[in-house]
Amino acid sequence: MIIGTLDDVTSDALAAMRQTENPRLREIMASLVKHLHAFVREARLTEAEFRQAAALLNEIGQLSSAAHNEAMLMAGSLGVSSLVCLLNNGDGGNTETSQSLLGPFWRLNSPRVENGGSIVRSDTPGDPLLVSGRVVDRAGAPVAGAEVDIWHASPIGLYENQDPGQADMNLRGKFTTDADGRFWFGTVKMVGYPLPSDGVVGRLLKAQNRQPNRPAHLHALIFKPGFKVLISQVYDPEDPNLLVDPQFGVTRALLGEYVRHDEPHPTDTALRRPWYSLDYTYVMEPGEAILPRPPIK
Ligand SMILES: [Fe+2]
Repeated sequence: MIIGTLDDVTSDALAAMRQTENPRLREIMASLVKHLHAFVREARLTEAEFRQAAALLNEIGQLSSAAHNEAMLMAGSLGVSSLVCLLNNGDGGNTETSQSLLGPFWRLNSPRVENGGSIVRSDTPGDPLLVSGRVVDRAGAPVAGAEVDIWHASPIGLYENQDPGQADMNLRGKFTTDADGRFWFGTVKMVGYPLPSDGVVGRLLKAQNRQPNRPAHLHALIFKPGFKVLISQVYDPEDPNLLVDPQFGVTRALLGEYVRHDEPHPTDTALRRPWYSLDYTYVMEPGEAILPRPPIK
């Protein structure tokens, strides 16, 4: 059509979207155009700002690599990742869910560890942490034989792939739940860590006076056919940045109790003090067991 008014642009673009053959793509594109046009109108976007936005999107792409995902970082920093997670789990956001964000640091093929083993593979100074997890279905029945992939940052806030001082696959391990749905292991207590500050997301956080540190958390990815893959992060409620997570990932269901013990461990008297314990129950939801693509190699 010959465009006569502002509104003609929107209706003509929407008409073009309606030609999309794939029905889901048609629905998504029509909604995207509708809301993008409304956004441009509401923000009264200037030409300079529009050009800046295009440059930022290009920069996000250029910053992304096999080891870094700036687009995911931005989605998280805008609250979109968390929104998508909650919308698609826990009965469409109506009930609590153990699901959380995958984050940028999951790696495939972490080494198998027997229950009771340790995932500390090189000298990693920090307080001992004994984790005991239980995997259940929505009715509370144990999920036996589930594969539980665990990973977390070190006591100085670095994943092994970011830190030449740690052995390959340090603080990562894959467990299998027993007949009671349980898995357990030893590690060291992690701390929170800052999002990368040298990219588009870093500049956004600075411009908004937002602190960049994520609260300390334990990652898990739990796989068992018949259930939706459970991707979880269990947060430490004592972390100073619990309420200001730059990725908006902290929900009530994901608070763990990282209990400090100053007394000797009842059986392992050689365990350094203080030591911590974490007991957490993961609830799997029914669905298809589809593994996500690892964000890094
Ligand atoms: Fe993380």
